[in-house]
Amino acid sequence: MDNNLEEVKAILKKYQQEHLLNNYDKLDDRDKRKLLDQIQNINFELMENLYRNTKKGNKHSEDEITPIDYLDKYKLKDEYKYYENIGKKAIREGQLAAVTMAGGQGTRLGHDGPKGTYDIGLDSHKSLFELLCDNLKQEGKKYGVTIPWFIMTSKENNKDTVEFFEKNKYFGYQKDKNIFFFIQGELPMMDTEGKILIGEDGLIKLAADGHGGIYEALVNSGMTKKMKEMNIKWVFIGGIDNCLAKLVDPVFMGVAIDKNVTVASKSVVKANPKEKVGVFCKRNGKPNVIEYTEITEEMADARDENGELLYGESNILCHLFSVEAIERMGANPLPYHVAYKKAKYINKDGKIVVPDSPNAYKFEAFLFDAFGEVDDMVVLRVKREEEFAPVKNADSVGVDCPSTARELYKKFYNID
Ligand code: UTP
Repeated sequence: MDNNLEEVKAILKKYQQEHLLNNYDKLDDRDKRKLLDQIQNINFELMENLYRNTKKGNKHSEDEITPIDYLDKYKLKDEYKYYENIGKKAIREGQLAAVTMAGGQGTRLGHDGPKGTYDIGLDSHKSLFELLCDNLKQEGKKYGVTIPWFIMTSKENNKDTVEFFEKNKYFGYQKDKNIFFFIQGELPMMDTEGKILIGEDGLIKLAADGHGGIYEALVNSGMTKKMKEMNIKWVFIGGIDNCLAKLVDPVFMGVAIDKNVTVASKSVVKANPKEKVGVFCKRNGKPNVIEYTEITEEMADARDENGELLYGESNILCHLFSVEAIERMGANPLPYHVAYKKAKYINKDGKIVVPDSPNAYKFEAFLFDAFGEVDDMVVLRVKREEEFAPVKNADSVGVDCPSTARELYKKFYNID
């Protein structure tokens, strides 16, 4: 270990992160090795770059943003059946799998445990995981197949997630046969001075690398290989926190297949110009999403000749990818965005600090940044009341929270 320690000290000196060994002597041998290992695996050049970027403000401000075309699912007329039949055939042939991204921290909701285990207060007390699984099972039955389900967790919540599924007998699915878990990547968190944080366990404070970590995680964990072995061609990718998400939609699939695209996304009409959602757009000519923090007031208010918002197709994190597209996207690193979050850490005096306001940078890749890899994609507008019931905030916030999601869910399924 001593050689290793000397090597690590030299690295830390070079990048002025010597504080990472402040608590080294207090750790047991296992954690000492773990810490040295973690440090040797940090890409310090990348971290320095990411820190520099936090000081640069909005580096996207010079991008050319233009509106993107979309199809309205409910204005399709005759083509509706045509696309539906194409999609149905592909589903019956077992070409579709679903991926649920459940690696987020769910800080806004504030639930103690993985977000997917959250009970939104239905009489059935079903968790978000079970609600999504119900949807998969009902749809699978229609087409005489079991839709394979892949669940992305983080290092932080993987154990709790798998235990929850085990306790619930995988809701009728079978582990390693039609339900698979894989863990996304992580990056260190940093303070505002560019110092990497030490967590309360004395080890590096790591956080999941954002939903954009999905591609790399699917490839590196061998899941795309498995998908190919299972003859899966299309993958629905969605979040855990939309209890009305339609993981299986033959029209959506049919449009993607017929239009010969490798990526398709669903949108709902932005409720009003100020709604805090990202909207689909073209960025420098390529499909992308512009976040609500990034869009100018003028753009948010702009309307087309029919009076509709020019940037009004909200991203609800419901996407369809071909397996090849995932592999392509997993091959190239995505840019990281910075979020300013609350993070417990050990300070230089060895004391645990529990901040009550944000104190640390978390670096996250966004799934839609990979859309730049494709020249075209389909954006399919669907109905908000049928497909979007997000659980983002605690009930006290009053929007996109368990009580609003519960009402939308009950209304859609006609539950009293
Ligand atoms: P959000 O961006 O809403 O983040 O994730 P979150 O972690 O759930 O909640 P906050 O921001 O901390 O309150 C949207 C979806 O992407 C997944 C989440 O689990 C959710 O399904 N996600 C997000 C990941 O799987 N990994 C990540 O690193 C981030």
